[in-house]
Amino acid sequence: MPDPVVVRPELIAIDPTHPDSSVIQRAADLIRAGRLVAFPTETVYGLGANALDPAAVRRIFAAKGRPPNNPLIVHAADIDAATECVQRWPDAAAALAGRFWPGPLTLVLLKTHTIPDEVTAGSPTVALRVPAHRIAGCLLAAANVPIAAPSANRSALLSPTRAEHVVASLGDAVDLILDGGPTPGGLESTVLDLTVTPPRLLRPGLVTPGEIESLIGPIERGSHAPAAHGTSRVIAEPLRSPGMLERHYAPRAVLETLSAGSAERVAALTRQGCRVGWLTFDAPTEEIASSVRIAIMPRDATAYASQLYAVLHAMDDAGVERIIVEQPPDDEAWLAIRDRLKRAAKN
Ligand code: TXA
Ligand code: MG
Repeated sequence: MPDPVVVRPELIAIDPTHPDSSVIQRAADLIRAGRLVAFPTETVYGLGANALDPAAVRRIFAAKGRPPNNPLIVHAADIDAATECVQRWPDAAAALAGRFWPGPLTLVLLKTHTIPDEVTAGSPTVALRVPAHRIAGCLLAAANVPIAAPSANRSALLSPTRAEHVVASLGDAVDLILDGGPTPGGLESTVLDLTVTPPRLLRPGLVTPGEIESLIGPIERGSHAPAAHGTSRVIAEPLRSPGMLERHYAPRAVLETLSAGSAERVAALTRQGCRVGWLTFDAPTEEIASSVRIAIMPRDATAYASQLYAVLHAMDDAGVERIIVEQPPDDEAWLAIRDRLKRAAKN
């Protein structure tokens, strides 16, 4: 008998609030067998593998085309499981985990020898978080191993906020995709290094520096900090997060952010025959060429974050060549959004 035709990736729809336990068990079995499973978290979709299995972790790097010097985030089922991955659990970790886990905060701590060098790119530290999404939580509990999971996209491109984005980006490099619908947060977790004094923000995310500082005191905000007078404070020293490559989180189209005159820019590019996408806060008052793809974005940062990547993915899919973005406000609620827009705009 011929082998049954295996269609990869296998895509299974699963309820995000009451996940079917037989589907979760199947995904957990694959993880334990060293395979790759993409699953939703409260931030973006992750591409998961058993964090304790070096060969499985190497498959993540191959599937993403990720440089081997860029370490992965390890996801744990709960605080106890997370503490098993680290040598020390400082007071600051306890305070932050107690307040923000499960949730979109990743803590960098000194790893134990059980976490393979493949996960941390040879670093003695490991980035850890307990995700708040029900599907991720159930998968971690069923697999009963920590799961290494970067965002489920080709390296340096946009993170996926829907299962379709994972299919389009990684296709048959994944064994199973759990389709739990759109991810609520829409931007990647905040990454905070607790192995340095003061703790250092490596990537702004859905948890803001202010929320962190209200619990553990001042942190180093790296080159992301908006200064008091609105200009960016740039620190010469490079960030210690190898993943913070300049161009990252980028759509295929060229992206520009403008604090003023975005309507004029859109009109000028359209006159030149360019296919333009436009992210603006207000519906245009003047007539705009019908070829322009317009996204009227929310004025609320949380709502904006949850839509941003899906809007950019849709513009790429529509064959837009340039994306013009009206610059969001310069305050802390918008820090992660402005960071991702800045990285997406790098050529
Ligand atoms: O929201 C998220 O964090 C998503 C979901 C799937 O959890 N994951 C995610 O992973 O965004 P990834 O691999 O795309 O980004 C991980 C970031 C990178 O910037 C990486 O360099 C940094 O975390 N990182 C990982 N381990 C590190 C370590 N030991 N030291 C410093 N930075 C680390
Ligand atoms: Mg990523």
